[in-house]
Amino acid sequence: MPDTVLIVLRLVALAVLAGVAWPALRMAASTAFRNRLGAHPGLPHLILAAIVGYAGVVLALAMAPLPLLAVAAAAALVVAGLAHWRARPDFGRRRGLPPGSLAATSLALVEDHRHLLDQARLHGPVFKIGRFGQKIVCVQGLERCNALLRRHGDDLVSGGLPFDRLIPGGFIRYMPPDRHARYRRLLAGALTPELVRAGRPLMAEEAALALAAMAGQSTATGIDPAPHLLRYTTRSMLRLFLGLGRDDPMLGKALALYPVIASANLSRRTRKRVSAALATLNGLFAEAIRRSASGSSPSLAAGLVAARTDAPDDPTLLGNLVYMIETGGRDTADLLLWVLKELADHPDQAAELGRTADPGLARRIVLETLRREQSEYVVRRVMRPITVEGYTVPAGWLLRFCVRESHRDPAVFADPERFDPDRFLGDPPRANAYAPFGLGVHTCLGRSLVLALATDFLTPLGGGHDWRVTADGPRVFGSFHWMPSRRFRLAFSSRAA
Ligand code: HEM
Repeated sequence: MPDTVLIVLRLVALAVLAGVAWPALRMAASTAFRNRLGAHPGLPHLILAAIVGYAGVVLALAMAPLPLLAVAAAAALVVAGLAHWRARPDFGRRRGLPPGSLAATSLALVEDHRHLLDQARLHGPVFKIGRFGQKIVCVQGLERCNALLRRHGDDLVSGGLPFDRLIPGGFIRYMPPDRHARYRRLLAGALTPELVRAGRPLMAEEAALALAAMAGQSTATGIDPAPHLLRYTTRSMLRLFLGLGRDDPMLGKALALYPVIASANLSRRTRKRVSAALATLNGLFAEAIRRSASGSSPSLAAGLVAARTDAPDDPTLLGNLVYMIETGGRDTADLLLWVLKELADHPDQAAELGRTADPGLARRIVLETLRREQSEYVVRRVMRPITVEGYTVPAGWLLRFCVRESHRDPAVFADPERFDPDRFLGDPPRANAYAPFGLGVHTCLGRSLVLALATDFLTPLGGGHDWRVTADGPRVFGSFHWMPSRRFRLAFSSRAA
């Protein structure tokens, strides 16, 4: 064969090998994918090693005899063809699988916030998707989700995030049923609506501190509100959980350690550093719990020692308290960021919040923001094959209860895309219509705390402050859920000043 033909064949084979890897490379390079990797220690290195390894193999093949290169390119084409065939929406129909594409390298879930709504419109309320190699069946409609949990609750388990492994008995959200029931009873018995009510003065104090800092640091180009919101929720929860005063030195020590153990950043820290920070936090929490037995301020710690005198010696309980503040504080801060974004996008509501004497408006704004934006999805792993609306979900697959998408069903909420806090006037919505705090036996233990933290921030915000957006951009998928743009900035001022 002439040399030029051989060179062209070689180039074509190399282009095939590079092209086959392209979707995986695009996925690895996407910011949204990398955000998610933050919570999974070891995975970024594994992916990097796989990319370098593949590049090495392609380079070696480039020097290898042409027949070997051609065989490798043909094999890569077969693999790509199989992946393409498997990504067809009707793949597995004869096995009873629901419709929808299992494309492993699709980024739609983290690049298009309407992707699941579009899929439900296309395929119906039960459909399958692929997410970075995982096979997931999505279920939309809370009535359907609740019925499914009632019928198949025992066939499903709550799969854990890696921070779960840092706690000896695991994080409550992912515990096996017996242990989960024990710790849930203990924590729910101490984190009561009465305790949250008793904690409202400290939340008001912390909200005033956060708002003063935001106004004090604001410039013409604006500030990033996110760190202020996280500081507000974390400080408030530390004080309420541990019975700490506003200037307790323990607050500063704990706040400095939280970024080290943050579940979204575990892959950026060494295991040794995270374990050491967690051990120090556990020690601080144990000391505060012992102190609370003789203290006078209402706290979660006091409720825990009253129920179990050995509470400060239980590392599983301590780790759970530490991570409830980490995960719950972050979710509540993210909710408040969405509230600021919604108010920035709906100045009429912001003006009304500033004018009104109706204390319920702040709460309605929070509920509506939870409906539209800060609703978590709920995921379970299927342990035994189950049937959902006539479709099979094989063992090992994930079930995703699409809470956020269910909140956008026009049959449940009229004109669902509209930001309308007044839809929460009157009776609270039914559990089959509204579930930002989850479904089944793992529903959120922090529900009343979240609503108190958010409304106690919003009331003084609307009553005494002005703000305007100085920078913004499209929403992004953060480590765990959709977030306003990282460019979102506010120029912020106190009316009193
Ligand atoms: C905007 C803020 C929050 C939202 C939207 C939220 C939402 C949720 C959801 C959907 C679940 C169920 C997860 C599942 O079934 O897999 C859950 C569970 C949980 N949440 Fe929250 N949460 C928030 C804040 C908090 C806070 C501040 C705390 C602190 C006490 C907290 C404590 C918990 C706990 C302990 C569980 C696990 C309960 C169990 O497994 O029995 N959450 N949350």
